Amino acid sequence: MNVRPDRKTHLPVAEGAVARFPRHVALIMDGNGRWATARGLPRTEGHRQGLEALRRTIRYAGKIGIEVVTVFSFSSENWRRPETEVTFLMGLLRRFVQRDLSELHEANVRIRVIGERSNLEPGILKLLEEAEELTVSNTGLELVIAFNYGARSELVRSIQRISAKVQSGELRIDQISEDSVSEALDTGGLPDPDLIIRTSGEMRLSNFLLWQAAYSEFFFSDRYWPDFDETAFDEAIASYSDRERRFGGLDSGSL
Ligand code: IPE
Ligand code: IPE
Ligand code: MG
Repeated sequence: MNVRPDRKTHLPVAEGAVARFPRHVALIMDGNGRWATARGLPRTEGHRQGLEALRRTIRYAGKIGIEVVTVFSFSSENWRRPETEVTFLMGLLRRFVQRDLSELHEANVRIRVIGERSNLEPGILKLLEEAEELTVSNTGLELVIAFNYGARSELVRSIQRISAKVQSGELRIDQISEDSVSEALDTGGLPDPDLIIRTSGEMRLSNFLLWQAAYSEFFFSDRYWPDFDETAFDEAIASYSDRERRFGGLDSGSL
């Protein structure tokens, strides 16, 4: 049975149902630097090849009918890297949006950006906002770019948004619910990720989607991100399909 979690409750629609195909896949694209170092190349070359892997992944996700893909492209902690690398990564995002936007728009992809915006360079912020505006009515794959994103910082922003509503009298404290917290996050309105894939063999979240990952399935690939391809994606989805998501209930055989 191919039953997907309800958008609002995130619980399977039918009791004991198995969600066979992920609706929302989130990717922690890790290992660009090691990919390059292993080849005697500068880390920046790994990021360049990582962008190719991202293009490949977006195309494939659209083709196989995934609804939402979230990609972790720059974390709020990545500012700790050397300035030259940070500058390169900013330039890479800029070029990605400039070069790929029209193609993504033609492919009916809707772009949404999550993360802290206040400290972004105005030129980058403008590009990201233009990408969101241009594609807002598209109905195909939803591409969520986590840029300058950290889940703790997102939670703080969410608490600030809710507090402002309480202060203005729009919301009472006893009306704060799991739904209102979800809505106040940068990901408000999106389904939670069904499957989170991290490449490069690391097994941690690194401050990614802490709230939203409450019931996500995880898949860890040993491949470095630039080597991630359709076969690796298929492998992750096949693994997901074999799992039974219980959301705190019992497995279907016990019901
Ligand atoms: C992921 O690759 C890309 C970003 C975090 C921006 P890394 O740059 O983290 O590569 P490794 O983990 O150092 O190999
Ligand atoms: C996570 O990778 C962030 C992105 C993929 C953008 P990192 O390479 O920054 O994570 P840590 O530092 O190894 O935890
Ligand atoms: Mg890394």
